[in-house]
Amino acid sequence: MEYSIHLDRLTLGVCYYPEHWPESLWEQDLDRMLEAGISVCRIGEFAWSKFERTEGAFDFSFFQRFLDLAQRKGMKVIFCTPTATPPAWLTEKYPETLNAFPDGTLVRHGMRCHCNHTSPVFLKLCARVVEEIAGHYGSHPAIIGWQIDNEINCETNMFYSEADSVAFRAYLKDKFGTLEALNQAMGTVFWNQEYTDWEEIFVARPTLANSPNPHLLLEQKKFISENSVAFFKMQADIIKKYRKPGDFITTNGVFGHIDYQDLNRWALDFITYDSYPNFAYSLGGANGNASAFGRLRDRVSGLSLARVRSISPNFGIMEQQSGGGGWQTRMPQPAPRPGQMRLWAWQSIAHGADFVSFFRWRTCNVGMEIYWNGILPWDNRDSRQLEELRVLRDETARAAELAGSRYAAKVAVCYHYPTQWDGEGDIFHGPLEGVSVMNWFAACQVAHTPMDLLCLGEDLGLEALAPYDLLVLPHIALLPEKTAGLLKEYVERGGRVIFGARTGFKDEFGRCPMRPTPGPAAELVGGTVREYTLVPEDSRTAVVLFGRSVPMPRLNEILEPEDGEALGRWYTREFYDGQPGVLRKRTGKGEAIYVGAAFSEEMASALLSYAGLEEPYAQWLDLPQDIELAVRKKGDRAYHILLNYTDAPRPFTCHGPMTDLLTGLPCEGEAELPPYGVMVLA
Ligand code: GAL
Repeated sequence: MEYSIHLDRLTLGVCYYPEHWPESLWEQDLDRMLEAGISVCRIGEFAWSKFERTEGAFDFSFFQRFLDLAQRKGMKVIFCTPTATPPAWLTEKYPETLNAFPDGTLVRHGMRCHCNHTSPVFLKLCARVVEEIAGHYGSHPAIIGWQIDNEINCETNMFYSEADSVAFRAYLKDKFGTLEALNQAMGTVFWNQEYTDWEEIFVARPTLANSPNPHLLLEQKKFISENSVAFFKMQADIIKKYRKPGDFITTNGVFGHIDYQDLNRWALDFITYDSYPNFAYSLGGANGNASAFGRLRDRVSGLSLARVRSISPNFGIMEQQSGGGGWQTRMPQPAPRPGQMRLWAWQSIAHGADFVSFFRWRTCNVGMEIYWNGILPWDNRDSRQLEELRVLRDETARAAELAGSRYAAKVAVCYHYPTQWDGEGDIFHGPLEGVSVMNWFAACQVAHTPMDLLCLGEDLGLEALAPYDLLVLPHIALLPEKTAGLLKEYVERGGRVIFGARTGFKDEFGRCPMRPTPGPAAELVGGTVREYTLVPEDSRTAVVLFGRSVPMPRLNEILEPEDGEALGRWYTREFYDGQPGVLRKRTGKGEAIYVGAAFSEEMASALLSYAGLEEPYAQWLDLPQDIELAVRKKGDRAYHILLNYTDAPRPFTCHGPMTDLLTGLPCEGEAELPPYGVMVLA
């Protein structure tokens, strides 16, 4: 089963809220959308009360009228289940459905995402409303697909209600069988935390220093993921009974404490994503610094898109930012500059989106989001966004054949959900991942080396690794034996794997087995970690590698080769100066490298060039660092997508005749990408 959107052309959509506007406006809205190139509307995700005004009183006339109008006009619809905003009658009558803050105080009605996903009555009421909606609209010809819920785990990804504790106990009983096994796995012998009755166990509650048992906290996150998947599967199973053949099921992500590989497997046909690149320009944020994030700004959204691609190789964007943003209370942002909305849509497409739906048609004139600007302002006049949309209409039509082509990367940076969840509660290894992944992304961006993220899921096989020349496992602390075995096979066949500090020092429960680090990867890298130390963020510790000094930030490990070699040695005023800091071992046709620190951008660049993976398209294109190159391929045809995130024209050289699909014009020799410009060269 492949979890990809299957469209035969690039498609534009928009998020529309029929319930926010007078019904007399609908027709004019649909006409304006269609004229501007929108062929799909997403509707209904927050509209529970429009279907069930009071408990059990179902009425489907409102959206029926909208769907019928859409059908007449030729507009396609993605219909949503409304479970992210349960109505006031529900939470008043059944307060046990509410989520809670850690101290048990209930999260009240008035915002969104206020319920838990475990209380039996909530699950029953959700199942019923989904059954009614899908039963009623499932066969409607305007519908082409379904979105379950909205951004699950976005407003919060932690759950502390009584219902969650009850369900957590059941999960633990099922997983561990006996209290003895649970106590063993959770290391409760430490600080006298042993349980003698299941009823003594709760989801994490407030503790001194906000430091609950880390193993149980990790287990709680696995439980939240299982629960979220079960909540979605319940809805998907209902929709599947009623949907027309070919209609898809998706949701908009990507948020915390959900294993999206599982979610896809059990509930979805593919994932969609909500892309808001302007967060990089948030006012009052700390984004103007010299880190890769500060420098790359909106280009960093490519990293999130790589994560989406790791879930579905081709995907959709359910909400693509079209205006400046912010709630009345938070997230203040400036307006996108002329050209940026178009650029960001192409950024999504460059990374694998075949469907781009904008948030939102018209800015809402009531509620918390009056500043989240849509394509149209609330005064309803034409806008420069509408003009940019028309440009995209024409460009996506000319480049329609891009649909179904695949982002082509030779480098993959791997992630592992349990390691991430464990890292949220571990200030030693947790923060390393963000630093290293960002630096690998930055190094790949400036070297014009397309890069994927890759999920180290349980069902990962050799065929998923085969397309890559280089795998980077930044700091997979909870590296499973099985994955290490797979990596060994990959290396034997000629692959190259690079590990970072703290690899493999924990087991699946976050405990530290009595064995040398990097545990299951020790044999592959030919050595072990003797000692480690945290170093300050501004530390200048380095290793000498390939004849030069390369920074080794955050956490330094002193390594001891066994049958591997010391490829780099510490260059520092610290006590480990001169000792091994980077190891290498060849196995079969490939090799593994172990770097005893977080990855600096310089380290990532040095290793990219060592692996011969810098500027892989140099024979075709000479590009300045601040142009992004994304490559999508279909069979033998390669699409080179050039994106200029700056407000200045950027010169480049194109060797060999190519055509810009967006204009139909030839491109050869000295060329220029305009400010915020995009080209699709093939
Ligand atoms: C998304 C959400 C939308 C809207 C938008 C702008 O996270 O799905 O409903 O809130 O952000 O804030």
